[in-house]
Amino acid sequence: MKIRKAVFPVAGLGTRVLPATKAMPKEMLTIVDKPLIQYVVDEAREAGIEHFVFVTGRNKGVIEDHFDKMFELDTTLEARGKKAEQEILAANQPEAGAMSFTRQQAPLGLGHAVWCARDIVGDEPFAVVLPDELVLNTPGCLKQMIEAATALDAKANLIAVEAVPDDRTHQYGICGVGKRHGKIFEVDGMVEKPPKGTAPSNLSITGRYILQPEIFKILETQERGAGGEIQLTDAMIGLSKSQKFYGVEFEGERHDCGSKPGFLRANIAFGMARDDLRDGLRAEMKKYLEK
Ligand code: UTP
Repeated sequence: MKIRKAVFPVAGLGTRVLPATKAMPKEMLTIVDKPLIQYVVDEAREAGIEHFVFVTGRNKGVIEDHFDKMFELDTTLEARGKKAEQEILAANQPEAGAMSFTRQQAPLGLGHAVWCARDIVGDEPFAVVLPDELVLNTPGCLKQMIEAATALDAKANLIAVEAVPDDRTHQYGICGVGKRHGKIFEVDGMVEKPPKGTAPSNLSITGRYILQPEIFKILETQERGAGGEIQLTDAMIGLSKSQKFYGVEFEGERHDCGSKPGFLRANIAFGMARDDLRDGLRAEMKKYLEK
């Protein structure tokens, strides 16, 4: 199965990290020195994605600008002999013509945001990557999923899953575990936020998916679900009646950067993973911990 396109839904309001997201998109929040959206685009490029589809909304124009060439900045860096910085900026950008931007006019939910990408994706399997979830690992989560997909039939759907504590399963979308095939397993039912004590497993659905285009037909008529939003999980439950879903227990640490504690933790984790920052950061944290 060849996955050429990835969809990045970036039209949400980011209410959990207000006031940071009042005028700035959540997806531009910075972990160490890169915005969230750059991390996930890099992850998709590493996985071999060729076309990047952004579902944006009001106040999100800066995301488009981030992936553009900044002539003034480039000329100034050139004049000042700042070669390393110029190279960083050049490496950030996908190729010309490899990005599409479409608009979700109202934040009606993740499922609706994905549906907004239907014409750009067309009739082929595609990835969905949520920018507020980062996985710290090489290879990245999407590459691990695409590698797992090569062994499966062409109409398979995949979801990245992560174990959560048993007493917190009611906060997540949870999937049941069927037959195992090495690192992946057949999904045996999915349920959004199961009441306490009823979850079929402790494996939560995370922000990386490989979906078949038939999901769009289901999303078209998908009713609002939890939180009054059109939920992607509900549409996946619909699609699972006619197509197989597989869960991938990926390697790596997942960070929910759309919450304040998760955002702080991600900055520490990604900072500690950097050779140029680790020692200084450790020394500074030590001072705070001893206070
Ligand atoms: P979240 O539910 O984490 O984002 O959606 P949110 O709604 O912006 O955040 P809170 O809960 O209010 O803090 C995950 C991803 O899906 C996008 C978001 O931008 C985020 O990247 N999304 C969500 C949309 O594009 N449209 C929506 O209607 C909802």
